[in-house]
Amino acid sequence: MTEPFTPPHRLPAWSVLENRANRLRSTRVAELFERDPSRFTTLSFGHRGLLLDLSKQSIDAPTLAALVDLAGQARLFDGIEALFAGEHLNFTEDRAALHMALRGACPAPPQDAATLAHSQQRMRAFAAALRSGTMTGASGKPIRLVVNLGIGGSDLGPRMTVQALLPAGPQATPEVRFVANIDRREFDEALADADPAGTLFIVSSKSFATAETLANAQAARSWLQAGLGAGCDPALHFAAVSNATDIAVAFGIAAERVFPLPEWVGGRYSVWSTIGLPLMIAIGESGFDAFLAGARAMDEHFRNAPPGENLPVLMGLTGLWNTDFLGIESLALLPYAHGLRSFAAWLQQLEMESNGKRCLRDGSASGVHTSPIVWGGVGTVGQHAFHQLFYQGTRRVALDFIVPVGADDACQRSLVENAFAQAAALMAGRSLDTALASLRAKGLAESEAARLAPHLACPGNQPSTTVLLPALDAFSLGQLMALYEHKVFVQGWIWGINSFDQYGVELGKEMARSLSAGARENHDASTAGLMAAAEAMRRPPDGS
Ligand code: F6P
Repeated sequence: MTEPFTPPHRLPAWSVLENRANRLRSTRVAELFERDPSRFTTLSFGHRGLLLDLSKQSIDAPTLAALVDLAGQARLFDGIEALFAGEHLNFTEDRAALHMALRGACPAPPQDAATLAHSQQRMRAFAAALRSGTMTGASGKPIRLVVNLGIGGSDLGPRMTVQALLPAGPQATPEVRFVANIDRREFDEALADADPAGTLFIVSSKSFATAETLANAQAARSWLQAGLGAGCDPALHFAAVSNATDIAVAFGIAAERVFPLPEWVGGRYSVWSTIGLPLMIAIGESGFDAFLAGARAMDEHFRNAPPGENLPVLMGLTGLWNTDFLGIESLALLPYAHGLRSFAAWLQQLEMESNGKRCLRDGSASGVHTSPIVWGGVGTVGQHAFHQLFYQGTRRVALDFIVPVGADDACQRSLVENAFAQAAALMAGRSLDTALASLRAKGLAESEAARLAPHLACPGNQPSTTVLLPALDAFSLGQLMALYEHKVFVQGWIWGINSFDQYGVELGKEMARSLSAGARENHDASTAGLMAAAEAMRRPPDGS
């Protein structure tokens, strides 16, 4: 993109939105429903079975229209076209961000198309052989356990999607497990009951240079060597997914078991690529294809739907409104599905690694806040823990309820109703008068009721979005994840940051390398002191 860049707060729509925020900040969402009972109809939007309800946000139709103006002034739709056309929007690394090509929503760069098709084909054959039980290890035993060794995007997407889509209960296909941390405990737990003769490791690393993953790959090799015994070749127990295929081969992984990953697929956008191998092993080719089809449906919608009906655009704009105009600092993800228990962790990387930035396209510092702090946990579990802060804490928190409707049985109905009840109660709250009345109705003396009522009152007015899915299946999950990916793009584009690099995390990696090289003198006094204290703790108490 060569056009001159204007920071968002210098665009004309920004001051219109500031004026609207001054008014809406003091207006309760419940009051907006009283004024306009048709809010649900006008502020909920559907696509291919997925429903996005924005009616419980602190927003009204004129504000949404002003946000759409902001998107127009920021030339968002040129940005979307540039994204799908493979322009190098990752301008610091001079790369495209073409994860949509993996879902068939746009072409891959012509020079990569053949390699990509070939590696996808090999990945499918490899997954099919594992699923059918025909793939054996060095001793001839079939592989029954697959362990993915990866971190960040090489772990969170596959881990979350396998949890979401694999039905509970014993599986006919190999079991899939994940190890991410350099903390050996995770490796030991994952392998505690494993038979080396029937175990295969996938070393999953785009760079094949990530310290945690390489340490775990070494641990896996030692574990196999010890377990398989002399004369058995551990190579039959390894595969790899990487962009650095030569380094993977140099590590000792057979070339025909290395599945390439194109450079233009960012780690946090990579589950659609060969990084999704564990998911394909778990759910099979047709399940994986349905997952891609769901994401493709959202891609096509994002590219073609007008802004006022475009789900990722509207979701992105609403989030930006909360962050920059209502001053809401965090976004809590509340999936009402045990299968989505790692969804918040996946989204944390997607949002915070993409948009947790301050440097704008023109090199200047952002004049407005960028990514919110993303966190969360599954309903109904969170209701008995951190929801208290939503009810009576001192901050407003933006909430995303993700609700797969699912089967028509009593537990599932109750799960869905709980989600709706939380969103409704957190919007309505409980006034002091209502609290007083309920205490009086219980027969409390007036003085006691007056003493307790403020402790029962809840301000409410927590803004929430509800995403309703027909079920937690592969198609819907693909749609949902692509919805969030594009939402992140919308916000990053308007803020004017590069959503596709991650130089911040690189600084932490450099520091870790320097500490492990033992360069204590170059560090601040606290770090040097901690290093010395840890060293002392490693020594036995008698100092020997
Ligand atoms: O440290 C951050 C990061 O670079 C992520 O962006 C990436 O998903 C993760 O590390 C893992 O990287 P790799 O796949 O190269 O091992």
